[in-house]
Amino acid sequence: MPDATPTLSLTLVAAILAFSYFALFSRPRKSPSALSCPPGPNGLTSMPALAPWVQFQKWGNEFGELVYLQDRNILILNHSRVAIDLLEKRARIYSDRRVTPVMDLFGTSTILSLMATIPQRYSPDWRFHRKLFQQTFRQAAVPYFFPAQYSKTHELLNSLITDPNNFMQHVMALSQRVIYESLYSLDIPADHPLAKKSITAMDAVGASLVNGTFPLFERFPFLRFMPAWFPGCGFKQQAIECSAILEEVNLIPFNIAVDNLKSGSRTSLIAELVMKSEGNLAQIEAIQSMGLVSFIAAADTTMSSISSFLLCMCLYPDTQQKGQEELDRVVGRDRLPTFEDRNSLPYVEAIYREVMRLHPAVPLGVSHQSTEDDTYGGYHIPKGCEVIPNIWAMSRDPELYHEPHEFIPERFIESEDGPFGSINDILAYGFGRRVCAGRHMADNTVWLAIASVLATFALGKAKDENANEIDISNEFTEGFFRHPKPFQCSIVPRTPNAKDLISAATLANE
Ligand code: HEM
Repeated sequence: MPDATPTLSLTLVAAILAFSYFALFSRPRKSPSALSCPPGPNGLTSMPALAPWVQFQKWGNEFGELVYLQDRNILILNHSRVAIDLLEKRARIYSDRRVTPVMDLFGTSTILSLMATIPQRYSPDWRFHRKLFQQTFRQAAVPYFFPAQYSKTHELLNSLITDPNNFMQHVMALSQRVIYESLYSLDIPADHPLAKKSITAMDAVGASLVNGTFPLFERFPFLRFMPAWFPGCGFKQQAIECSAILEEVNLIPFNIAVDNLKSGSRTSLIAELVMKSEGNLAQIEAIQSMGLVSFIAAADTTMSSISSFLLCMCLYPDTQQKGQEELDRVVGRDRLPTFEDRNSLPYVEAIYREVMRLHPAVPLGVSHQSTEDDTYGGYHIPKGCEVIPNIWAMSRDPELYHEPHEFIPERFIESEDGPFGSINDILAYGFGRRVCAGRHMADNTVWLAIASVLATFALGKAKDENANEIDISNEFTEGFFRHPKPFQCSIVPRTPNAKDLISAATLANE
């Protein structure tokens, strides 16, 4: 326990500072143009009791297509048309990232996915970061990841046979293992200390990205200069722990991969990039950071999408059956599906698209930030405005999707573009220049898991000891990442030879 305790005078100083800050910065922003800022709730907005994406949608219904939170300089977009108009068609001024004092303190602001483009935009380091990511994860490069995707998906199937009750854990393991195998050539099973540390790191990063997690510090950033024991400053200890664990998750796999290459035991994408960089420290740092960012960006999102699929299959057995009938017809029951089958499986594709629509893993996307004053729909949008795309609400827009809260893959079969529309139409991957850099890889991992699980397992509600079905609550987490809360389900092999097929595929990958 710290021996110092906050004195009355210290508390008084803090209160005065807080008041001055509040008085200075919480005044309504005045628009420099004749136009006013978009409407929104009056006064100070605190975190709502509802999930933020639900509250933001409600505000949208009340105030219109642009909702502006004056006290926070935040613009909320609830319609995909508006998001495309601003974040894609005007990408030049809506592609910056917001860096908050929380992110700075937690060590997450330097992560590329969140890295502000200004002022680093034209620095050689920033350009190297972008190029590295684009080259590694571009569409033409994704076949490089196929072996890892097949082997880890087949291991998921194997785990579902041997230990179906822990399916969430197996899905998380798949999501992590694909990245570790693809980038570092490392097999990190779920019980490996690195896998556990990585989950802690992702939780901490997620917390640092959500508005309202540390309300006092967000409102009064000067609190970072107060000691951790000061009332309301417990976040400082959390920040120290977050930075430390990020450092570990960054360095451990990187060092193993480089050592493996040096000892001649195994090569990997990351280690080869390091060799090519010929000792250039800035480049090595960027390569390291690509590994960390990929991991943080990939694991929870992939896990969320696949576990949402499992949940939907339990809740919508007819849909499951239609997907399985298509697989039986096209692939047959004597082998597992492959990427070559994808274009011949429109219904499976529609299931994938519908999972991504109904359950976007990052419901509020990653905030963009405007770099210039702008005008849209008769309103003034100030420079430096944080723009939150409410992907959850956009995906449930009743003007675009009938019965938007229902899981109906047929909507993609019946749509004008059919189920094989461009990946850019999948709102869950975000918008414009900052669209998900790993979307081609993610698209394949999630699709293969969906097709492979459908081909081999029957999913349904679990039963209690009296053979009564156990209800599934259909509840989701409400953090930065949204995924199903733990639920019980029954997962059993669907065909007599499913088990043998899976064992054979797992052995063949070794
Ligand atoms: C189902 C899986 C995934 C989903 C739903 C998803 C979703 C997203 C979203 C919504 C964004 C923000 C886009 C925006 O700002 O408009 C994003 C950014 C990003 N994602 Fe993903 N992601 C997934 C998987 C991955 C994977 C597998 C990787 C890498 C291996 C990855 C790497 C990134 C990176 C680097 C960014 C930041 C791009 C930038 O700021 O320029 N993501 N992702």
